This record gives sequence, C-alpha cells and structure tokens, in this order.
Amino acid sequence: MRWLIVSLVTTIVISTCFCVRYEPNWASIDSRPLPGWYDDVKLGIFIHWGVFSVPSYSRKLMPAWFWLYLREMKLPDYIEFMEKNYRPGFTYADFAPQLTAEFFDANRWAEIFQSSGAEYIVFTAKHHEGYTNWPSKYSFNWNSMAVGPHKDIVGELAAAIKMNTSLHFGLYHSLFEWFNPLYLQDKANNYTTSYFVDRKTLPELYELINTYQPEVIWSDGDWEANSSYWKSTEFLAWLYNDSPVKDTVVTNDRWGKDSTCHHGGYLTCADRYQPGKLQKRKWENAMTIDGQAWGFRRDVTYSQFLSIHTLISTFVETVSCGGNMLMNVGPTKEGFIDPIFEERLWQFGEWMKVNGEAIRGTRPWKAQNDTINSNIWYTMKGSDVYAIVLEWPQGDTLTLGSPIPSTSTTINLLGYPDQFQYTTRPSGGIDIKIPPIPANKMPCQWVWSFVITGLMN
Ligand SMILES: *[C@@H]1O[C@H](CO)[C@@H](O)[C@H](O)[C@H]1NC(C)=O
Ligand SMILES: *[C@@H]1O[C@H](CO)[C@@H](O)[C@H](O)[C@H]1NC(C)=O
Ligand SMILES: *[C@@H]1O[C@H](CO)[C@@H](O)[C@H](O)[C@H]1NC(C)=O
Ligand SMILES: *[C@@H]1O[C@H](CO)[C@@H](O)[C@H](O)[C@H]1NC(C)=O
Repeated sequence: MRWLIVSLVTTIVISTCFCVRYEPNWASIDSRPLPGWYDDVKLGIFIHWGVFSVPSYSRKLMPAWFWLYLREMKLPDYIEFMEKNYRPGFTYADFAPQLTAEFFDANRWAEIFQSSGAEYIVFTAKHHEGYTNWPSKYSFNWNSMAVGPHKDIVGELAAAIKMNTSLHFGLYHSLFEWFNPLYLQDKANNYTTSYFVDRKTLPELYELINTYQPEVIWSDGDWEANSSYWKSTEFLAWLYNDSPVKDTVVTNDRWGKDSTCHHGGYLTCADRYQPGKLQKRKWENAMTIDGQAWGFRRDVTYSQFLSIHTLISTFVETVSCGGNMLMNVGPTKEGFIDPIFEERLWQFGEWMKVNGEAIRGTRPWKAQNDTINSNIWYTMKGSDVYAIVLEWPQGDTLTLGSPIPSTSTTINLLGYPDQFQYTTRPSGGIDIKIPPIPANKMPCQWVWSFVITGLMN
C-alpha cells in the first residue's frame, strides 16, 4: 500500500514535470525556465565566418556587412575597393569560391576554444548574406558544400566540439537575408505574406536543429519585422516541446522587433550590451576581441584589439551583474584563427585556471561594484563572496566598502597560499592588509580574486 502511494505520487510528480507544453505565444514561451547550465558557465566564444571573410575589408565598419555597404548603400570606399582590386563585373557571389578553408581544422578550433576556459561556442551557421556554412537543402548553390570549402563546416565543428571537448555547441542564425528575392517580396508586401519564412527561414531552422542538435540558438537579423511575421513563437514552442534539444537548448531574444530585449530566452538587447547593474533576467554581453568587428578584417591594426586586461575586466563586470559574456573571434577565409585571437583566448584560459572559482557557478551578490573602490566587482557562491580586483592595490591596504565581516571572516587570494589579515573599518567595510608578494609568487598577471568567507551580509 505504502509502495503504491509512493509510486502514485512519483507518477503524478513526474507527469506534471513532463506535461508542461509551451504555447506559441510570448507569455508561455517566456515562462520556460532557462536550462541551468547556461547561467553556470558564464563564458562563450562567438565565431563569425562566411563569404564576408573573403574580402575581409572594413574601413572601420563591419566586415560582415560588406555586401550591404557595396550593393545597397554604395559606399564610395567599397566601390573603389572593388574597382581597384577585382575585374569589372566581379560580384559578391564571386567571392564564394575564394572561401577556400584549406587550413580549417575543426579539432584545432575546438582545442583553441577549450583552452580559453569558455564552456560554449556559437558559430555563424548563416549570416545576413544568406550563405549557409552547412549543405542546406534550402540553399541551392549558396552553401559551403556547393561552393568554397566543399565541406560541411557546421557538421565538422559540431562533431569536434561534441566529441573532443566539454563545450556546449551553439549556432547563430540570421532570420533575414538582405537580398533573398523571397524576403524582398515579403518586405514589398509589408510583411503581409510569408513566402520567405515558410520556404527558407523555418525549414532551415528545423534542418539545423534536427541535424546538428545545437544547445544554443542565437537568433539575429530579426529587426525589420515583427515576431509574428517570423512565426517565432511557433518555432520556439516546437523547440521547447518537441525538438531533440528541448531540455537543454537556450535561445536569445532576437526573434522580431517586438521581441529584442523583451522576449525569448536570455536577453542580448544590443551588441556589446553592458548595463553596469544587476538585471532581473539572465542576459548576455556579445562582444568582440577585435574592438570593432565581428568578421576577420585584413585592415585591422594591433591597437584595435582589446587587451587581455580590458577583456577580463569587461567579463568580470558582466558576470557580477548576472550576465554571460560571448567573446567573438573572426577566422580568416583559409579557416585559420589568427595567433592574436589565439593568444587572447589562451591568456583568458590561464586567468580562468586561477580565478574560475570566482566565476563558474557563481551568482550576483548583494552589491555588484564596491561602494568605495571603483575597481572591484563582486560575485557569490554559497556563503562565499568573491571581490574581484581590476587593478592591484597601490599601497599595502585594499579598502572595500561593501562587506561586513563577522568574527569568523577569512580572506584569501585565489592561487596564493596564505590568509590575508584585515581590520574592520569603523565606518563600515574592511581594510585588507596586502603583504609584499614577489612577482613570481603572484597567482596571475591581470585581475585578482579575493575569496571572503563568513560575512554578515
Ligand atoms: C577527436 O580527436 C581525435 C584525436 O585528435 C581525432 O582523431 C578525431 O578525429 C576527433 N574527432 C572529431 C569528431 O573531430
Ligand atoms: C505598404 O505600406 C506602405 C506605407 O504604409 C504603403 O504605401 C504601401 O502601399 C504598402 N504596400 C503594400 C503592398 O501593401
Ligand atoms: C508589429 O507589431 C506592432 C505591435 O505589436 C504593430 O503595431 C505593428 O503594426 C506591427 N507591424 C507589422 C509590420 O506587422
Ligand atoms: C558602480 O557602477 C555603476 C555603473 O557602472 C556606476 O554608475 C557607479 O558609479 C559605480 N559605483 C562605484 C562606487 O564605483
């Protein structure tokens, strides 16, 4: 009898857990809890690669937007660049055979991404140009198997990431395509028709998810039309109810101009979103190591790359305010990751080896930045608080305004053996005594994490 009741109760609990079905409307879609892995991992690597990686030209604009600048905006710099360097009549489509990818090695990419300490990647399956980095049934002659690499780039990367790393695999997908005739037709009809969505966008989204089973769908290119035109809630209801990744997949918010910064999974709002204070919903800062561009650009200069100190400082602020950071690299048309990107990723990984404890699995604390010291951002795990210091203190004291110590409070620097002495400040906060530490005993070179236990707040 007891067994019967237990099993009955279990059955009811299990069936209520699994009978949640999401409806194709935003209230229902937004009610889905974000799968837990995403909030724990904090760092992802974004990769922008496509036909735009061939001209890889920017003049300080966005290299991935080359086609739009040339064909629609007719920017003089771009027209001149084509006239000077390519035969008359050379079209954007003629760049595709030069997307040779002869050095593309999915395992090498996977190794570089893993070395950064990141725990997910998001790769551009298709950008606004419409070229698909997989052999899509819906992209005749404008895909990576038909022209250019003659490879299933998405497939090779998915296999390498899933088989040989612990990273979660994610895909970026642009809803619109600047010059797709079906899209232009719907646009001319003020989005009262949906030829493009029915015959291109949705079929290829289903194809991507069923074939490669990504755990992140990073939607973009939504902003000219409403989510009702894109049929976004219908797609997301399928993704959350019936897709092969329904239990683990996360998505962003770029599902229509009414959706961005409001609906979907986590919020991305704008590129390089960094609100600087705690947010109510989970969010992501999608930003670039090349300080300006997503795609590789041959006309980039060294000073335009963000320093490792800037990258880590940006990351710490993001995590402290409840965000994840998605840090972008742009490989070359040969499918090669330039050593400057590789170096930044490797440095990031070295930092994470020492400081990952202050990042992974943490939650925002009561305070985000310190009330006295503007170089400090806080995170929390269980009852431990991490004070992450962007600049090493000048003198022999590090003053923190926010923590209230108890008699049992201890303070340690991650990666350093000895406990630190401190005194409680009469007006609130703590003064941490910084001993002289020889350079070769410093746990890392940029941005240090103190773990503080037993606080009263
Ligand atoms: C995983 O790594 C091994 C060893 O480097 C390699 O032989 C194999 O092809 C890789 N798997 C995939 C799917 O790339
Ligand atoms: C689309 O909207 C514009 C502006 O409201 C209008 O001038 C045009 O006639 C509309 N086109 C169609 C095909 O409905
Ligand atoms: C988009 O939605 C808004 C309100 O949700 C509506 O006012 C507007 O007309 C819609 N636009 C299109 C193109 O459907
Ligand atoms: C905390 O950060 C916010 C946002 O960057 C800023 O406005 C505020 O001045 C900071 N507070 C301190 C004490 O630095």
